[in-house]
Amino acid sequence: HGYFTFDPGFLSTASCESTITFINGSQGILQHRGYAIDDLAKNASYLEVCYLLLYGELPNKAQYAEFSRIVSEHTMLNEQLTRCLQGFRRDAHPMAIMCGMVGTMSAFYHDSLDIANERHREIAAYRLISKMPTIAAMCFKYNVGQPFMYPRNDLSYAENFLHMMFATPCAEYTPNPVVAKAMDRIFTLHADHEQNASTSTVRLAGSSGANPFACIAAGIASLWGPAHGGANEACLKMLEEIGSVERIPEFIDRAKDKDDPFRLMGFGHRVYKNHDPRATVMRETCHEVLDSLNIKDPLLDVAMELERIALEDSYFVEKKLYPNVDFYSGIILKAVGIPTNMFTVIFALSRTVGWIAHWNEMMSDEGQKIGRPRQLYVGEIDKSFNGIEDR
Ligand code: CMC
Repeated sequence: HGYFTFDPGFLSTASCESTITFINGSQGILQHRGYAIDDLAKNASYLEVCYLLLYGELPNKAQYAEFSRIVSEHTMLNEQLTRCLQGFRRDAHPMAIMCGMVGTMSAFYHDSLDIANERHREIAAYRLISKMPTIAAMCFKYNVGQPFMYPRNDLSYAENFLHMMFATPCAEYTPNPVVAKAMDRIFTLHADHEQNASTSTVRLAGSSGANPFACIAAGIASLWGPAHGGANEACLKMLEEIGSVERIPEFIDRAKDKDDPFRLMGFGHRVYKNHDPRATVMRETCHEVLDSLNIKDPLLDVAMELERIALEDSYFVEKKLYPNVDFYSGIILKAVGIPTNMFTVIFALSRTVGWIAHWNEMMSDEGQKIGRPRQLYVGEIDKSFNGIEDR
């Protein structure tokens, strides 16, 4: 076929150059702008990591204060956007609502937005990072029928999200510091992961010069699937279905059976053929949160035993399948009181900074071209046409 390579699923195609995130899948290394993910997740706040992803270096105190101030100033949504949300069915999946809401933001920020202007792109990034927790919490409040809670700028990013989720006009919510820290860490662990399906979707959509809010909505759609961000929801449902340690072998056998479509959710990764470094921090955080809240969740026992058995099983060993970031996150979110259908929404909220950093990197590249993969045509050609009466 001549001029191009055939690479379905992009197993061996680099689509761009990037300075944002480095992954070495065989050694289980993940770094953002050169900093190891466990250093960032344990020692930096999510907003510090957002700054790092956007600007290329960690902020000093003054830069951090200014960045946090700007992010907190953009947290409210236009009230008209709130009315758009009220058009959804009350039982709509929160990912459907979030995808629609972020797409709708393009109607609010379009005519005055010049994507060739660096400053305009920066403001679009602030707006997205600031408003995603508000949108995420609104999706939840709408589902459960409670009034929306306005953001509070005196709280940290994670505390504010928990406040909008769990406070009501009649009762304040004071987040447990361990829970707020864990939430912040979950945001950080999902902040970016180079050219995954959703980030590539954002880049491809953006490569035509489309509105960035619409591009992020495209990323959210791509993230939703169970092979990608939807895995955290699917993983918790799987752990619930397994239910007890005794039933694990049955599910391990199903995962190995080629005639059974079942896969171990939260296991395996396109790039990591070693431990996913995010999963290691997530497992530690899971223990910290459950200990601090004094929760004994049998699903944690199921998860730990499942991991132990799988890591000793020749099928998983040979295929280099390890727990990924989504394996333990659901148990933490459940302990915090977040319903399963919100898990992927939280992933989308966290990944927004990565998406917009990649979009911005692409838009800043003067040699950037529209993304336009080729195909191998395997259909028929040169058929003679018959009018409808003759078919
Ligand atoms: N359980 C059982 N077998 C598996 C699993 C699994 N979770 N993952 C991969 N395999 C097998 C697969 O059947 C295949 O076997 P064979 O070579 O005999 O056909 C082999 O391992 C390679 O799998 P693949 O589907 O060709 O690999 P991929 O790189 O296309 O897929 C993946 C990667 C993440 C989609 C896949 O591992 C998977 O479906 N995992 C479960 C879903 C999941 O946890 N996704 C979250 C990924 S991390 C967060 C994110 O990216 O959003």
